[in-house]
Amino acid sequence: MKSIVVVSSLTGNTLKVGDMVAYALDEHMETVKVEEMPDVSDYDLVVVGCWVDRATADTKAQEFIKTIRNKKVAFFVTLGKEPDSEHAEVCLKNIAALFDESNELVGQFICQGAVSLKMMEIMAKKFPAGHSHAMTDERRKRMEASWSHPDKADLQAAREYFTALKKRLEG
Ligand SMILES: Cc1cc2nc3c(=O)[nH]c(=O)nc-3n(C[C@H](O)[C@H](O)[C@H](O)COP(=O)(O)O)c2cc1C
Repeated sequence: MKSIVVVSSLTGNTLKVGDMVAYALDEHMETVKVEEMPDVSDYDLVVVGCWVDRATADTKAQEFIKTIRNKKVAFFVTLGKEPDSEHAEVCLKNIAALFDESNELVGQFICQGAVSLKMMEIMAKKFPAGHSHAMTDERRKRMEASWSHPDKADLQAAREYFTALKKRLEG
């Protein structure tokens, strides 16, 4: 099975996971940057890594995802919120829905990724107190909890997930 791992990453979290995903699929494989918009016609499995931007895949990843047809596809995603939250579930659904129906979605993996300080500052400035996205103490603490991710356990989980996926697809 010939696979490619295409990654969109702004601050490096998704790329870290992507390196592990590529390694799990083939220890000699390197990730491809989404900006390259690679031609995937020669591949059996196309794996896309993206980061969550307002509850869906980031724009660059979306553009690439929309070009894929008639492939086995899988995706992995990093997000600031907890991966077992309702928000994460919505994000997974939104991202899965971006793939053209001619593809077969064979796997999806999600884990937390550090929210950058810059992003936290932007939010604090943009949303006034009382707004549903305002930077409260509680929100700040939850975002600070993201700073250690993706951690060793996340990377290990990604490795196990994609090793198992490969095994399942290769039979
Ligand atoms: C513009 C912007 C929008 C974001 N929107 C969300 C969001 O809706 N939900 C969420 O959980 N995290 C959100 N995040 C956090 C990122 O998804 C998270 O930090 C991710 O790990 C970044 O990945 P990267 O380091 O590969 O760029 C947002 C970050 C940015 C910069």
